[in-house]
Amino acid sequence: MKKVRRCILLVCLLPVIVFPIRLPAQQAITGKTPSLKEVFKDDFVIGTALNRTQIEERDPLAAAFIPRQFSAFTPENDMKAVMIHPQWGTYNFSEADKIIAYSQKHHMRINGHTLIWHSQLPVFVRRMQDKDSLHRFFVEHISTIASRYKGKVYSWDVVNEALNEDGTMRNSIFREKLGEDYVVEAFKLAQQAAPGTMLYYNDYNIERPEKRAGAITLVKKIQAAGVRIDGIGIQGHWHIDQVPLKDIEQSILEFSSLGVKVMFTELDISVLPDPIGSNGADISQNTAYNAALNPYVNGLPDSLQSKLAGSYEDLFRLFLKYKNKISRITFWGVNDGNSWLNNWPVRGRTNYPLLFDRHFNPKPAFYKVIATKTRNTDRTASH
Ligand code: XIL
Repeated sequence: MKKVRRCILLVCLLPVIVFPIRLPAQQAITGKTPSLKEVFKDDFVIGTALNRTQIEERDPLAAAFIPRQFSAFTPENDMKAVMIHPQWGTYNFSEADKIIAYSQKHHMRINGHTLIWHSQLPVFVRRMQDKDSLHRFFVEHISTIASRYKGKVYSWDVVNEALNEDGTMRNSIFREKLGEDYVVEAFKLAQQAAPGTMLYYNDYNIERPEKRAGAITLVKKIQAAGVRIDGIGIQGHWHIDQVPLKDIEQSILEFSSLGVKVMFTELDISVLPDPIGSNGADISQNTAYNAALNPYVNGLPDSLQSKLAGSYEDLFRLFLKYKNKISRITFWGVNDGNSWLNNWPVRGRTNYPLLFDRHFNPKPAFYKVIATKTRNTDRTASH
C-alpha cells in the first residue's frame, strides 16, 4: 500500500520536478526566448567567453543554447600562454584546435585571447632573467600562434592589460626586460604573422580618464610606427553600484576618433560586495572568504535583480546610441554559474553578473536588454 502511495506521489511530482528546471531552458533553446545575436544582428556582434567544457560540448543543454544566443566567442583560458605554450618551445595546441573546430561547426567568430599578457604566463617565462631569452620567447610565441591560427581566428587581443591605473605602463616582465616599445613590436609581429587578422588592445578600467589617456597614447604610438591596430577592447568588468556610463560614453567617442573600432570584450556586472575596492579585474588580487562577502547564496533579492536589469538597460541604450562605433559586445561567461566572478576576487561565492541564470533561464536583465532594441527601433520608426 505504502509503495503504491509513493508511486502515485512520484508520478504527481514528476512534472513539478522536471518542468520548472527544464522548460525555460528548453524554451531558450527552441525559440520562444529571443536570441541576442539575432536581435542585435544589425548593430553589433554578440559574443561570450567559452570554457573547455563548453567547447567540448559536454553538456547538451549548453551545447544547444550557446550557438543560438551568440555569434562570436573568446576562449576564456585555453589560448593563454600558460595553456598553449606550457614549456619552452613546447606548444599544446590540442585545446586551441578544438576551439577552431567548434567555431567552424557553429559559424561563430573567435577572438583569440591573448598573445601577450603578464598574467597566466608559464613558469619558464616568469623565471626568465635575461632580456635575450624573453625576447626570443616573445617573438616565437607571437609568430607561432598568430600564424598557426591565421584565417581561423577573426581577431587577436594582441596585448592585454599593459597599463597601470594612472595611465603609465605597467611594470610587467615585458616592459621591465624589453622596454615600453614591446607593445608596438607585439602588434608588428602579429601583423606579419597574420596579415588578415584584426588586431586589438584590450584592458580593464580604460574607460576611466587617466587610464584612457594612457590607452590613447599607446594606440597613437602604434599608429605612428606605421603598425596596424584595428580596435580597442574595454573589458567591462563593472559593479552594480558603479557602472561608469559617462566615462564609457566619453571613451567610445575618444577611442573611435583614433580610427579604431571599440568593443566591450568581457562584460559582466558583479552584485556582490567588492572587498578590494578596485572595481577592476586584476586577477592577482584575492581576498579570503567570509560569509558577509557572500550574502545571496540562496538567490538574488528582487530589488537587486531589478537594479541589475536597470544597469544593463542603461548600458545597452548607450551601446545602441553608438552602434556605428562599436563592433562587438562579449559577455564574460554564458550564465551566472560559469562566471569567473564566483571565484574572483574571493573564491566560492555566488554571484549573478550575467543575463542568464544558472539554468540558462533569461533574467529580467535579459528582457531589459532586448527591450532597448525594440524601443530603439520604435523610436527610429516614429521619426
Ligand atoms: C579570467 C578567467 O575568466 C578565469 O577563469 C581565470 O582563472 C583567470 O582569468 N581579464 C582577462 C581575462 O583578460 O582573461 C580574465 O579571465 C579576467 C580578467
